[in-house]
Amino acid sequence: MAQPRASKAKVVDVHTHMYPPEYIRILESRLTIPLVRSFPGATDPRLILLDAEVPALNVALSSGPAATPSVLPGRPLTRHFASLSQKLHFMDTHGIDISIVSLANPWLDFLPPATAGPTATSINTSFSSMCAAHPGRLYFFAALPLTAPQEAILSSIAHAAALPYCRGVILGTSGLGSGLDDPLLLPILRALATASLPIFLHPHYGLPNAVFGPLAAAGAYGHVLPLAIGFPVETTIAVTRMYLAGVFDAVPSLRMLLAHSGGCLPFLAGRIESCIVHDGHLAVLGKTASPPRRTVWEVLREQVYLDAVIYSNVGLKAAVQAAGEGGAGRVMFGTDHPFFPPVGGGEGEDGVWESVELNSLAVEGAFGAGTPGAEGVMGGNAVEVFRLFGE
Ligand code: URA
Ligand code: ZN
Repeated sequence: MAQPRASKAKVVDVHTHMYPPEYIRILESRLTIPLVRSFPGATDPRLILLDAEVPALNVALSSGPAATPSVLPGRPLTRHFASLSQKLHFMDTHGIDISIVSLANPWLDFLPPATAGPTATSINTSFSSMCAAHPGRLYFFAALPLTAPQEAILSSIAHAAALPYCRGVILGTSGLGSGLDDPLLLPILRALATASLPIFLHPHYGLPNAVFGPLAAAGAYGHVLPLAIGFPVETTIAVTRMYLAGVFDAVPSLRMLLAHSGGCLPFLAGRIESCIVHDGHLAVLGKTASPPRRTVWEVLREQVYLDAVIYSNVGLKAAVQAAGEGGAGRVMFGTDHPFFPPVGGGEGEDGVWESVELNSLAVEGAFGAGTPGAEGVMGGNAVEVFRLFGE
């Protein structure tokens, strides 16, 4: 998919991030993660986001301000993260007609309560202006100030809902600090549902570093374990907790788009169902019989969409099947730009990204190139679900 496609079907990227310059400035001012640091000898500043990156950060800092660390922590903060023209160049290079852009992790989760609300207003207004500068090409998922008082979160939802190019919100799994199954989050989820703002659920926190072992902490495995396993498992746990807490029944008009094809959910939904049906404690509570219980499968088919950021047609087919009959209509192409650039940086970043090709090839492999299923996943579904009709 190196060139714009001959077909008229739209290609839409529902999973694509940016950090507006004011967000980068916040990261540059910080002493703990998330942060941005420059190291002598490194072309780009480094963006250090994840707990799993802290051991390498500590080693790099301990070598002193003038030394070039042997292993640079985090990832390069390339011009792709904050530049709108770079985003448009990336879209043109990969034949992407429309992007629904979102702030990347960890969003506003780390801000003090007093600044979270005003920062959300500023960031969401920036995204809105970027979209307005390229009408019909860009939409966005707003960020929420989840550390602020409830009133400020609700005002932020009202502000986002009134922005013409806003099509939902991006959320991590921490909720108000106790996860997405927290009853205190219900008013927020109800407000989102009432405003017809779907949640794009995205991982950040992963699994505790101890799970990955000392060799990972020493840097032996790069970022593979937290990104390939930690992220998807985090999403899986968060959504399963919401399901078990009855959140989907409490807010039946809530809609969620799950990053990375729902983590492990398409593969594990059957096991989750079986564990519920065979749970003696839940049986005593009268929570196993279906009906009246909607099964995990039913919730997936009624309230959940999955992105297609899974890099293989095996995973993609599982996502489509989990989404049920006509499930291809609930799965949507994404790139995760500006993460996963070609390794080596430089000019390569301006060309075709293998990470993008893997995802478009997975769609072709699962459906056949140019088929209605493929065109739906590549863009048609997102146009319908997120009302990307140009206004
Ligand atoms: N790494 C991140 O921190 N976020 C992404 O979205 C992808 C990779
Ligand atoms: Zn992402």
